[in-house]
Amino acid sequence: MKLLKNTALFLLICLLSSCEQPEKETKEMPTYATDTHSYAKPNEAVAKHLQLDIDVNFDKKIITGTATYTIENYAGTAIVFDVKNLKIQKATVDGNEVQFTLGANDAVLGQSLSIPIATDSKEVAITYETTDKTEALQFLNPQQTADKEFPFLLTQGQAILTRTWIPIQDSPQIRLTYNATVQVPKELLAIMSAENPKEKSENGQYSFKMKQPISPYLIALAVGDLVYKEISPRTGVYAEKSMIEKVHYEFADMEKMVNAAESLYGTYAWDQFDVVVLPPSFPFGGMENPRLTFATPTVIAGDRSLTSLIAHELAHSWSGNLVTNATWNDFWLNEGFTVYFEMRIMEALYGKEYANMLASIGRQDLSDEIKNFRNQPEATHLKLDLKGKNPDDGMNSIAYDKGYLFLRTLEETVGRAKMDAFLKEYFNTHAFSTMTTEKFITYLNAELLQKNNIDFNVDTWVYKAGIPGNAAKIKSDKFKEVDNVLSDWQYKTITASNVCEQDWNIQQKIHFIRNIPEKLYDGLFEKLDEACDFSNASNSYIAMVWFEQAINHDYHGNNVDQRMEDFLMTVGRRWYVSTIYKALKRNNRLEDAKRIYEKARPNYHSVTVNTIDEMLGIN
Ligand code: BES
Ligand code: ZN
Repeated sequence: MKLLKNTALFLLICLLSSCEQPEKETKEMPTYATDTHSYAKPNEAVAKHLQLDIDVNFDKKIITGTATYTIENYAGTAIVFDVKNLKIQKATVDGNEVQFTLGANDAVLGQSLSIPIATDSKEVAITYETTDKTEALQFLNPQQTADKEFPFLLTQGQAILTRTWIPIQDSPQIRLTYNATVQVPKELLAIMSAENPKEKSENGQYSFKMKQPISPYLIALAVGDLVYKEISPRTGVYAEKSMIEKVHYEFADMEKMVNAAESLYGTYAWDQFDVVVLPPSFPFGGMENPRLTFATPTVIAGDRSLTSLIAHELAHSWSGNLVTNATWNDFWLNEGFTVYFEMRIMEALYGKEYANMLASIGRQDLSDEIKNFRNQPEATHLKLDLKGKNPDDGMNSIAYDKGYLFLRTLEETVGRAKMDAFLKEYFNTHAFSTMTTEKFITYLNAELLQKNNIDFNVDTWVYKAGIPGNAAKIKSDKFKEVDNVLSDWQYKTITASNVCEQDWNIQQKIHFIRNIPEKLYDGLFEKLDEACDFSNASNSYIAMVWFEQAINHDYHGNNVDQRMEDFLMTVGRRWYVSTIYKALKRNNRLEDAKRIYEKARPNYHSVTVNTIDEMLGIN
């Protein structure tokens, strides 16, 4: 406010006396948090803009090209980048070739790339090539796509994989704008987390522009035989031809979601909100790449039942992309806020009942996850300490579900009106900047709690294990109905057919299946599948939870083992496949797990491979 007054005064004086703004004497030194997952030294020299000029070579499965950075130099004699498994061929500073230095190779972090600069250096260019160890990239053969005709390439940057396809200062707190030129085979379309083409070019050359500063983990590229279909002037979908109509139907409410989100927390900052539906080996449900969310085809259910995923990735346009976790220890600031916001969007579109079902599923996940971590309670803190670890291993669902519960509890304590005003102002004040847990707590105390004279155990929520006693109770009447049916079925008051006749939505079915008790009367589980045919469920979420229960109940009827194997062979979504492999392992079927995994492994992205290798003790 004071700043605003001063500026106004200055402008007024200027108007009266036609003065010029005095030149800044020294460059303003930004403050950066310590990020143990990056070698960059942004306090010395930092990249502000990237010009990326690359060529995608599908034959060799590599990317070659040059990353040219516009830099700011504060005191440094060198600028330090992160690289992992890249071949660095040449570095220039303002056009002159210089000698670069590569540091020791760390299995998780990769290497530092240090380039000498002078005080007045402006531009640093790095010519490089990716290798077959490039973890961010997944080159797919035509067989792995929907249309089976052309190859496909996708990238995944979060958490620290961007450095495996671009030499970069790979810390989430280092924001930069970028332009890119990308050369691909002329049969294919290239799209990025940037302003995108809607049609193929004649020569396979594409240019991109991301004019807002973003974190390195949000730079993304997809290349394939893709088409675009608009939903509204600012929303639309990309998919392979055979999928585009289904995808367009599934995500028809996207514009409504953006509208709902804007009325909650302010204007959408990225102009366009598109989604690309990728081949099934994409390792995540969704990834919030700005302007272009990446999504798994496993959410194309045909009945719009799994679209909360889109609400989630959209919500990241505020929590994550606009206000970004400063380091991976603060990951809950991205995901916890996003789940809270996701529930609010879903509530706005489909009502409280629906949102409460989603929240109840998350609540059960949270209890399960806390049980999983009973010997590692610090993993259930919101603020993490991932030093020396691969952030990708340390980031678990606590950030999502406990983060959500924290914000929901806060909302119930202060009331929705105050909560919403606070959040809107939070996003507005910190737009295009990064946030540490500590800075957030200071802001929360000052702007919400002290102002309203409210006592809240913030530190317990953030820095302690488990679920604090004041946690909101999440209740769903629709799930209560399911619980009643479950109990009637379990005690044989009703039959399996009675169960399948229920007019339930997907979330209710999931709730039912997940809560089938371990011990059942003989034959009950078999009869359930005879009546409901869950083993052949087309909904991927239902299939996944059913496979897990089939394993737990040592059930092998209705061809379920084959169905499960086919699922694991095509789907690479880490959460789904790890749930199934984990269940096999837990139920003494490690050999089965290994046999299937050996065949499926080549279809998976490196992040899924890393998780499952570790789980099954491979390599
Ligand atoms: N940003 C995450 C995906 C992610 C997290 C990638 C950590 C790498 C490291 C994304 O927004 C996400 O949370 N996806 C979820 C879906 C969501 C509905 C919970 C997923 O992939 O399952
Ligand atoms: Zn997320």
